[in-house]
Amino acid sequence: MSWESRNIILGVTGGVAAYKAVELASRWTQRGATVRVRMTPSACRFIQPLTFEAVTRCEVVSEIWHPIGTGDRPEHIGAGDDAAVLVIAPASADHLARLANGFGDDVVCLTALAWDGPTVVCPAMNDRMWNHPAVQANIATLQQRGVVVVAPAEGHLACGSVGPGRLADLDQIDEVVSGFVLPKELS
Ligand SMILES: Cc1cc2nc3c(=O)[nH]c(=O)nc-3n(C[C@H](O)[C@H](O)[C@H](O)COP(=O)(O)O)c2cc1C
Repeated sequence: MSWESRNIILGVTGGVAAYKAVELASRWTQRGATVRVRMTPSACRFIQPLTFEAVTRCEVVSEIWHPIGTGDRPEHIGAGDDAAVLVIAPASADHLARLANGFGDDVVCLTALAWDGPTVVCPAMNDRMWNHPAVQANIATLQQRGVVVVAPAEGHLACGSVGPGRLADLDQIDEVVSGFVLPKELS
């Protein structure tokens, strides 16, 4: 099995690091994977869906009320049918709460709710937000459910602080995702 026959769902939520998700989408597309990007309305304020569409050559879905073609199932149900992994990068604090509580009010958390395969979540936020007990409780809930959390890195943050909260290094995220795209027994 190679990257060419693999589908990845990339959920992008509303944080400054949304632009870094373009690089991930580009890497995986260049290897031959089909990358289906799903964005929250907040994510679309940080970066345009068009950028992801140009890089992945796939339509980006950013709202729940997406047209349903004849014979198709709703987009958020069908999207995961043949995917290897759902990656949410960056995952905002708000979105971690949505995921932990099973919300389905945007296309990213709705897709996650209708998905029973491997999920990789890559949080990115201000250091005080990351250290907040509510955020840490949501992370613990997700991990207990088997979600793989790629913890944020320490360093300079967009808000001017220095601490934990930067989106993890893209090579690190890539390595984790590669493990699901090309499981050892298949590679
Ligand atoms: C300039 C700006 C930068 C932000 N950056 C982040 C961020 O890096 N991480 C985060 O968790 N929230 C951040 N937020 C807050 C989120 O955008 C906000 O909670 C939003 O509701 C998230 O929506 P979503 O989870 O549906 O994408 C930022 C907000 C603004 C205005």
